[in-house]
Amino acid sequence: MNKEFPYQISSYQDYKEKYAQSIENPSVFWADIAENFSWKQKWNSVVNQDFETAKNTWFDGAVLNITENALDRHLEKNGEQVALIWEPNNPIDKHITLTYNQLHKQVCLLGNVLKNNGIKKGDRVCIYMPMIPELTIAVLACARLGAVHSVVFGGFSAQSIADRINDSQCKMVICTDGAKRGSKEIPMKATIDEALENCSSVEKVIILQHTNISINLNKDRDVLWSDAFQKTIANGQLDLAAEPMQAEDPLFILYTSGSTGKPKGVVHTCAGYMVWTTYTFVNIFQYKKGQVHFCTADIGWITGHSYIVYGPLCAGATTLIFEGIPTFPDAGRFWDICQKHKVNIFYTAPTAIRSLMACGTEHIEKYDLNSLQVLGTVGEPINEEAWEWYNTHIGKSKLPIVDTWWQTETGGCMISNIAGITPAKPSYATLPMPGILPQLVDENGNLIKGNNVSGNLVISQSWPGIIRSTWGDHKRCIETYFSTYKGKYFTGDGCLRNEEGFYRITGRVDDVLNISGHRIGTAEVENAINSNPNVIESAIVGFPHDIKGQGIYAFVILDKVVNETQQISDAIIATVSTSIGPIAKPDKIQIVTGLPKTRSGKIMRRILRKIAEGELNNLGDTTTLLDPDVVQKIIEGRL
Ligand code: WT7
Repeated sequence: MNKEFPYQISSYQDYKEKYAQSIENPSVFWADIAENFSWKQKWNSVVNQDFETAKNTWFDGAVLNITENALDRHLEKNGEQVALIWEPNNPIDKHITLTYNQLHKQVCLLGNVLKNNGIKKGDRVCIYMPMIPELTIAVLACARLGAVHSVVFGGFSAQSIADRINDSQCKMVICTDGAKRGSKEIPMKATIDEALENCSSVEKVIILQHTNISINLNKDRDVLWSDAFQKTIANGQLDLAAEPMQAEDPLFILYTSGSTGKPKGVVHTCAGYMVWTTYTFVNIFQYKKGQVHFCTADIGWITGHSYIVYGPLCAGATTLIFEGIPTFPDAGRFWDICQKHKVNIFYTAPTAIRSLMACGTEHIEKYDLNSLQVLGTVGEPINEEAWEWYNTHIGKSKLPIVDTWWQTETGGCMISNIAGITPAKPSYATLPMPGILPQLVDENGNLIKGNNVSGNLVISQSWPGIIRSTWGDHKRCIETYFSTYKGKYFTGDGCLRNEEGFYRITGRVDDVLNISGHRIGTAEVENAINSNPNVIESAIVGFPHDIKGQGIYAFVILDKVVNETQQISDAIIATVSTSIGPIAKPDKIQIVTGLPKTRSGKIMRRILRKIAEGELNNLGDTTTLLDPDVVQKIIEGRL
């Protein structure tokens, strides 16, 4: 048994036994695991499952602070171990390392800064920063005070930030002057200034200077990080006791897109999320003490929250954060970092693999990748070709590759092979983690039993990382996740189960697209396009894209006939960029005169999807359309 992590699964047989126990007796199973964390007070009950009203609790009655698990707990024995390595955008700049002692100190200091600026337990704080150590410090400082962090991905526009700030009534924003991305510097404070024109709840903005971009300061509202730190140090406010948190107090909000226009604030709470992220991190990657873990995601997404910040730090690992992009200064950047910092676990997205595949293997051969022991992917289905490339060129055909399926709402990985322990199969997430009971259902909710079947993926038993609510609108949580199929959590994904009982996720079955592993709601993009004054109506669908997995195909009706379609397309793209962000820009825009609609006025996306995919002989039944001729016209103008 691994003394450090007695709950680490050690063989396929061990997995099977633990899985069976976890489903039969979840309370005993998870209590055993939770014993390995530090608590101010233990729980009264391990699990209360309620899929009717979406009131699911874990470790209820317990009192803890997640930062004591991510930091303080390691100080005595491993305080001098490196907790965080930061690799800058440009390799000519110096990297930074922070030991657990140093990270702890920085978190306490920033926590005091936040406190001095009016933040207390329960307040919401928006964090809008590039991938720098201070982003992790900001996240942990909030958690230490019991303030609820809402990290907004650096690529979102002012309008998207404002929507998110207003939805959860954030009292503070923490940002930088700008971000470095490849050869560019991108303003961030200016975007916050623009967002805050429409946000009355924000009282203070803390700004870290990171680039050469100049900023405007609003003297009643804006505080420079460096000034505030100096003051705090001068006041001798060096230490900060961790706020006692109830197990079910909110830890953070993370906004994610759904099938309606408005993003939802997914709420995770303290105890269950901590146990779940740490458990899955230690098991799936088979983390061994002292290993360096490099997850290439951004902390602005759930992958970064769970597998850059909380999971690795609660396990006492060394987590690597990288500010740049995979192709700057060239397509060898990831491998340069792996060699330089002797990375052991490398976790990335299929879209990144596909984009590097297109750049040739000469960028890899220059580097020594012998430190690598485990590879992982997340965010979208990985096609076999990308899997084979990853296996051959990065894993040198000898490393386990874990394909981890999960969602913002699930907190941590749900279905995944366990590195070197359970079997892998290209393009299959394979088997559920202990505690996870996946099932397939048909459209009417009938259970699909047996193997070699496919259906909609549901989870039929609660797990520690389950979504607790959607901020400010609990009803929406019930409706979105727990109402489609009674008594089950609905994932929104289609899935097949093969003859071995392995799961393969086939993609979203709702109106959600997965663009380069980023979740984008069709309604959100349509609303953005429709806000262009020349647009009457639009419909967007996904289509297969070699690098991004899915691309966005927009069908747009204009208010008048125009010849300058390029100009209009550019204007539409600009509108989407300003209302959502560049990640939601359509790849193709087809101007049409009508959209296929049912007699009740509903757009038949199924038909548009087939047209976008080029499956023109297989459009299905079009007789129920209001105007079947419209389809022929769209086909003729297809891009
Ligand atoms: C959706 C969740 C989980 C962190 C990143 C995305 C898709 C995720 C896989 C995978 C196939 C996957 C699903 C899921 N997805 N991982 N390994 N294989 N599909 O988080 O933005 O909440 O998106 O990403 O469709 O529902 P998210």
